Amino acid sequence: MRSGLSAVACALWFYRLRGSSMCGIVGYTGYREAEPILRDGLKRLEYRGYDSAGLATVTGSGLCLRKSVGKIADLADVLQRQPAPGTSGISHTRWATHGEATLANAHPHLGGDGEVAVVHNGVIENHAELRSQLQADGFTFRSQTDSEVIAHLIAKYLDGDPVEAVRRAVSRLRGTYGLAMISPRFPGVLVGARLGSPLVVGLGSNENYLSSDASALRGYTEDVVYLLDRQLCVLTPNSGNVLSVELAPAEPVVHRLNWDMEDASRGEYEHFMLKEICEQPEVIDRAMAGRLDEVDSTAHFGNLSLDPQKLNQIDRVIMTACGTSYHAALIGEYLIESLARLPVEVEYASEFRYRNPPLDRKSIVLAISQSGETADTLAALRESKRKGLPTLALCNVVGSSIAREADCTIYLHAGPEVGVASTKAFTAQVTVLTLLALHLGRLRNLSASAGTRILDELQQMPDLVRQTLDCHDEVKRIARKYHHVSNVLYMGRQYLFPVALEGALKLKEISYIHAEGYPAAEMKHGPIALVDEDTPSVFLVPQCPSYDKTMSNLEEVKARGGPVIAVACPEDERIAGRADDVILIPRVAEHWQPLVAVVPLQLLAYEIALLRGCDIDKPRNLAKSVTVE
Ligand code: M6R
Repeated sequence: MRSGLSAVACALWFYRLRGSSMCGIVGYTGYREAEPILRDGLKRLEYRGYDSAGLATVTGSGLCLRKSVGKIADLADVLQRQPAPGTSGISHTRWATHGEATLANAHPHLGGDGEVAVVHNGVIENHAELRSQLQADGFTFRSQTDSEVIAHLIAKYLDGDPVEAVRRAVSRLRGTYGLAMISPRFPGVLVGARLGSPLVVGLGSNENYLSSDASALRGYTEDVVYLLDRQLCVLTPNSGNVLSVELAPAEPVVHRLNWDMEDASRGEYEHFMLKEICEQPEVIDRAMAGRLDEVDSTAHFGNLSLDPQKLNQIDRVIMTACGTSYHAALIGEYLIESLARLPVEVEYASEFRYRNPPLDRKSIVLAISQSGETADTLAALRESKRKGLPTLALCNVVGSSIAREADCTIYLHAGPEVGVASTKAFTAQVTVLTLLALHLGRLRNLSASAGTRILDELQQMPDLVRQTLDCHDEVKRIARKYHHVSNVLYMGRQYLFPVALEGALKLKEISYIHAEGYPAAEMKHGPIALVDEDTPSVFLVPQCPSYDKTMSNLEEVKARGGPVIAVACPEDERIAGRADDVILIPRVAEHWQPLVAVVPLQLLAYEIALLRGCDIDKPRNLAKSVTVE
C-alpha cells in the first residue's frame, strides 16, 4: 500500500451494530473506462439485491449519473443508449430497505448540487433527524432513502479534502454503512468507509477497485484488503490507502485470492441453481479433501486452532445459523449427538442473539453461514465472543466477516454459490458437520473401527449423490403433475426432518408455493387438517429404523385423500402400492440420508419453479446475503 491523502484527527464514535441493507457496491479508479468494469462487477453482485441499480462516473465536465429500476440488464440497456464515460466511478445494486424500488431511490445519490455521488449499503438509524437538519441548511432531498443524508453530509463538509469530508460525515451517522464516494472536484479519487457492512479494496497496477464483496473483482485482481469496521480507504489509480477513523494510516493485510473462473459461470446450465445442484458430488469431495485421516480413523481440519485438550473439555455445542444453514445445523445436531455423544442446541441466530441464554465456559458456539455475512449470525457470533465463549465458524466465502471474526473457521470449499436458493452449500455444510462430529467423536468415545467405517462410507457419498441425480427425469414428470398446486407438505423423521424443512424452504422461495416441513408424526397434531386432494405431501421414507412409523403417517395422509410423493429406496417393495408417485434414491445408512434425500427435493423445487415461469436464480423479494437483521 502506498501513502495517500492528508490525515486529520477525529473523534471516535461508539454504537451498537444493527445490520445493513443487502446491496452491492463496486467502485473503480484507473486508466480504463470505468463503466464496463462497474457493470460487470454489479452483474456478479446482483444476487445481493436486484430491485434497482445505478452508477456514476467522473467525466471532464462533472458527474455522469445513470440509473434504472429492475435488474442490471435494465441498467445495461440505459447505458447502451446513454453511455457513462470516465475512468473512475461507483456503482450499486439495491435491495430496498428505506423507500420503494424507484428511480429516485436507486443509488448513487448526489450530495448538494452534484458535488459528490455516494453509494451506500447499510441502515442509517438517525436519518430522519439528519434529513431535517440538512433541509434546514438548504439541502434538497430527491429520494426517500436513508442513504441520501450521507451524500448531503459529505457535500456539506466538502472543502479541500474529500477524506476529511467523509470522516466528518460518518461521524454524524448512527447505524451501519459500507459506502463509496466520488466527486468531480477530485477526479480519480474514490473514498470508502465501513462500519458493519463489508467493503473490500482490490489492488491493481495503475488501477484500484472497491467492492462490497470480493467476488465482484474476479478476473480483475487477486490482491484484496478487507476493510475493518471504522476504517476508511482512499483510492487513486496509483495509490490505495487504508486509514483508521482518526485518519491515521492503518496496516492493511493484503490477501491473495485464488479465483476459479469456471465455477462462477453457468456453463451449459440454464440456471446457477441447477448447476449448483449437479455440482454436489464434487462439492462433497472438495469438503473432504485433505481432511480424512485413515491412520487415526478421524477427520482433521488444518486450521482448527482449538487444541484437542480444550475441545475435549467442551460439554455443549451451540449451533447458530439462519435459513438453509440452520437446517444443516439441525442435521449437525443429530450427527454430533450420535457420534460424539455431546449435547447440542441449535438456535436461529436472530433468536439467539437477543435471548441472552445462560452459557457456561464449557460451551462452544458454531456459527454456520454460506456467505459469512448474514447479519443475525454475525451478531450471534459477536455476542458469544463478548461472553467469552470459544467460537468456530463454518463458512463458504473466504475472508467473509464471520470467517474472520470467529476464533477459528472451517471453510466449506463449495465454490461460489450464486443461486439465491442455497443447495450445494447445504451439502458442504452437512459434509463438514459429519467430519466435525467424527473429529469430536474420536476425541471422546467413538471407536477406531466406527471411525474407519464412517470414513469408508463418506468416501462413497460423492458417487451415491451422483447416482441420486439420475432421478431428475422422474422429478420432471412429477413436477408437471403438481406444479399448479398451492400448498405442499414435507414429512420426514430423525435425520430427515431437517431435510423436510429444507425441501419446503426450497419450494416456497423459488416457486412461491406455500410449503411446510414437519416431523412426520406431528401431522396428527394439527397439520393433517390441511390434507385434501389438492395438497400433495412429500414423504421421506428411505429404509431406516423409523421406516414403519413414517409409513403409518403416510397411510394417515392417504386415508384422507391426500396425494403422496414418496422419496424411497429401490429395495422398498411396499411403497409403489401406497404412494401416488415415487422418487428413488440409493439406500444408505441413516446418518448419510440427508445428503442423498435433499437432492430430489432441490430438483423438484427447481422444476416446479421452471414450469411456473419463476426467476429461479433471483426469486422475488430475496437476496443472497441477508445483511439486515
Ligand atoms: O449465507 P447464510 O448461509 O448465512 O444464509 C442464510 C440464509 O439467508 C440462506 O440459507 C437462505 O435461507 C437461502 N436463501 C436458502 O435457500
